[in-house]
Amino acid sequence: MLVLGIETSCDDTSLALVRGGREIVVSRISSQVQTHAPFGGVVPELAARDHLTSLPALLDDLLDEAGLDLHSVDAVAGVYGPGLLGALLVGLATAKSLALGLGKPFIGVNHLQAHLFANFLQSPELDFPFLGLVVSGGHTLILDAPEPNVFRVLGKTVDDAAGEVLDKIARLAGLPFPGGKYVEEQARQGDPASVALPRPVSSSGPLDFSFSGLKTAAAMALRTDRHSLPDMMASLQQAVIDCITLRVDRALKETGRKTLVMAGGVTANRALLSQLQETCAARNVDVHCPPPWLCTDNAAMVASLAYFRLVQGVTSPQDLDAVAQLGPEVV
Ligand code: KG4
Ligand code: ZN
Repeated sequence: MLVLGIETSCDDTSLALVRGGREIVVSRISSQVQTHAPFGGVVPELAARDHLTSLPALLDDLLDEAGLDLHSVDAVAGVYGPGLLGALLVGLATAKSLALGLGKPFIGVNHLQAHLFANFLQSPELDFPFLGLVVSGGHTLILDAPEPNVFRVLGKTVDDAAGEVLDKIARLAGLPFPGGKYVEEQARQGDPASVALPRPVSSSGPLDFSFSGLKTAAAMALRTDRHSLPDMMASLQQAVIDCITLRVDRALKETGRKTLVMAGGVTANRALLSQLQETCAARNVDVHCPPPWLCTDNAAMVASLAYFRLVQGVTSPQDLDAVAQLGPEVV
């Protein structure tokens, strides 16, 4: 079964053809980094317009590279939330109209759940149940996933997301936006123990995260200007990694899950992966993490999730609306 996936929830325009939920036939990701760079963050209206102008050519490219006709697609999937409303609407309307025109099923998917499915594209043996960790620019979540349609939130951030903290501090330090990957680059040359930064614990729930205190402390440390950029970034990265590892370790202990599935832009960070691999090894837990290009936003993960819905006979109605604040557990 061949699924066309469309992802436009934020600032990446992406299309992919995925066969059987696990094999990427072809994938295209067009970044809007240049559009938003002068503003130091994503401008929602510009994001929506950019998606609108790039989607048609991207679709032609995709089909050319695959050597396939649009009619060989068995279903079309799009993201209906969470994300920027205007940006979501462009991809969702495209997915719905392509499905309608082709007379094929349409599947609307949750972007946060889709991130986890990037792992099915890399790990043929991966199956439910698992503990999911989604760390992105907008979310820091621990989800229990007993089966393909059930996602139970065990922990979430009560203020900033981990990616937001990295992006904010990177920007204050003069690094390009989004800063996560530049933080990682700088951190490779730095000493993670050089700047004393807190590992804040949220008081609202045992597995919740709180990063705003760390963000403030890092911004203040940066202002004193006594540390080299690599030392500052290594210390910041280590503090974020420690906060995440502590919560994941506890979630694994409490749930007894034996598989950890990582997803979202921040999991492209290989230092985070290696620390979680150590933690999981000590608990005899398997770790799955996609390669960096599948950790960040992409349409292959959308098509993969849609395939798992389709084989269960689940499709979405044509009047499915975009939901900017869609909860992580909503299917
Ligand atoms: O999942 P994603 O592409 O978009 C959202 O849905 O938010 O995640 C983007 C986030 C940004 O905060 C970006 O700085 C971060 O992922 N990121 C990284 C790395 N690559 C991207 N953070 C740390 N290390 C990286 N290598
Ligand atoms: Zn994302």
